[in-house]
Amino acid sequence: MIEIYFASSSSGMVRQFAERLGRPAHDLGDRDVRRSVPQGPWVLVTPSYKTGNPDNDTIPEPVRRFLRDPVTRRRLVGVMGSGNRNFGAHYQAAARTIARASGRPVLFEFELQGTQWDVEDARKILDDLDEALASSHAAATRDV
Ligand SMILES: Cc1cc2nc3c(=O)[nH]c(=O)nc-3n(C[C@H](O)[C@H](O)[C@H](O)COP(=O)(O)O)c2cc1C
Repeated sequence: MIEIYFASSSSGMVRQFAERLGRPAHDLGDRDVRRSVPQGPWVLVTPSYKTGNPDNDTIPEPVRRFLRDPVTRRRLVGVMGSGNRNFGAHYQAAARTIARASGRPVLFEFELQGTQWDVEDARKILDDLDEALASSHAAATRDV
């Protein structure tokens, strides 16, 4: 089963969303989690934070650190982003930048903590991905 790794500030909006997805959700704010390597496929849920630094960087630092490990990067399936449309051109900048850099898809975007329907949509996307991964694994092992 795909597991969730998320970053969330003290306002906890991404945490609220991640913890409603009905599967293991690991907090990248926890140092031990940040230093671990996912044992299987995983999905990142991240907010964007425009901090006004010179690079216009919006990726939370815990996410950046976690993604340094090449095995962790290889096992990343896709990205879900939380943002706020008030940020205009920077809306979902972190999720979109990570997706572009990693060659993985943005699976889902929502605002703030997401609605009940957002949670349902995201659950469905993850269930479908679980199924797709299980059948591609079955096909791969049938051929050997
Ligand atoms: C200082 C600040 C900067 C933000 N910058 C962006 C941004 O660049 N793009 C965006 O889509 N949302 C931006 N947001 C909105 C947050 O990403 C959004 O509220 C998110 O749900 C916060 O998740 P969290 O409470 O788990 O940290 C910003 C919010 C704050 C407070």
